[in-house]
Amino acid sequence: MPKKNIPEPEIGKRFQNETKYTPESLAGHTLNFASIPPAFKEYSNPLLRVSLPEPKAKGETNIWKLFLKRRSRRDYIADRPLRLNDLSALLWATQGLTAQFGDTFFRTAPSAGALYPVETYLYVRTVDGLEEGIYHFRPGDYDLELLKRGDFAVQLAEAALQQSVIARAQVTFIWSAIIARGQWKYNQRAYRYVYIDAGHIAQNLYLAGEGLGLGICAVGAFYDDDINRIMGFDGEDETVIYMATVGFRSPDQTI
Ligand SMILES: Cc1cc2nc3c(=O)[nH]c(=O)nc-3n(C[C@H](O)[C@H](O)[C@H](O)COP(=O)(O)O)c2cc1C
Repeated sequence: MPKKNIPEPEIGKRFQNETKYTPESLAGHTLNFASIPPAFKEYSNPLLRVSLPEPKAKGETNIWKLFLKRRSRRDYIADRPLRLNDLSALLWATQGLTAQFGDTFFRTAPSAGALYPVETYLYVRTVDGLEEGIYHFRPGDYDLELLKRGDFAVQLAEAALQQSVIARAQVTFIWSAIIARGQWKYNQRAYRYVYIDAGHIAQNLYLAGEGLGLGICAVGAFYDDDINRIMGFDGEDETVIYMATVGFRSPDQTI
């Protein structure tokens, strides 16, 4: 007989519970180093690959001032292209490689177990020297792979619960998680870590953007299936987790 009137624990509580570390859950846990998933993704047939200029950031560099000034900024001057140098600086700040130890490359943002499950994609609306379209960032080769040409502003804005900020932003960062990278070591707990990793990455974007005088806004509200479809993610092995807009700040914005 099915039990009546005993509600299932809410999914959030279940998630928290079932991804807990306990001495029992860790007992006997071993790692198979022969099956580590690759830390870098590349597309076999991108439309083209564009090398990025060396990131030479100018502007505000005092980290303490950046903490003070950082805001989510949504008012953009839509019709000026972003400089490719500035985009390169933002990409480097979020996921640039900074050191190597054995086979592992370390990056500007921390990652649980140095497994880096988060992939960076861009919708480039207007950037000097780049065609409009959807790109994938390769931190190792330091380039962008063009995956889809064209104007995705309206589709992405609608998929982000009609947030028109995406249609005005020069660039939108779209971060996915490749779950297997974290699961190899952490099993179900990997799901906690992809979101924590993404938070670090997004904060680096906020601070780097602030330093360059640009406006950044995190976007966590979106129809997952719609973004996954636009981006070509299957929604399970690779799924969208977070987004952020980059734009020229309007002088009218007060805070
Ligand atoms: C996880 C997360 C999701 C967010 N999603 C959105 C969003 O979908 N749209 C939006 O306009 N702002 C979004 N924001 C920005 C918050 O609204 C903003 O951080 C908050 O109002 C505090 O303002 P501040 O960032 O200027 O300090 C998000 C922020 C975080 C951390």
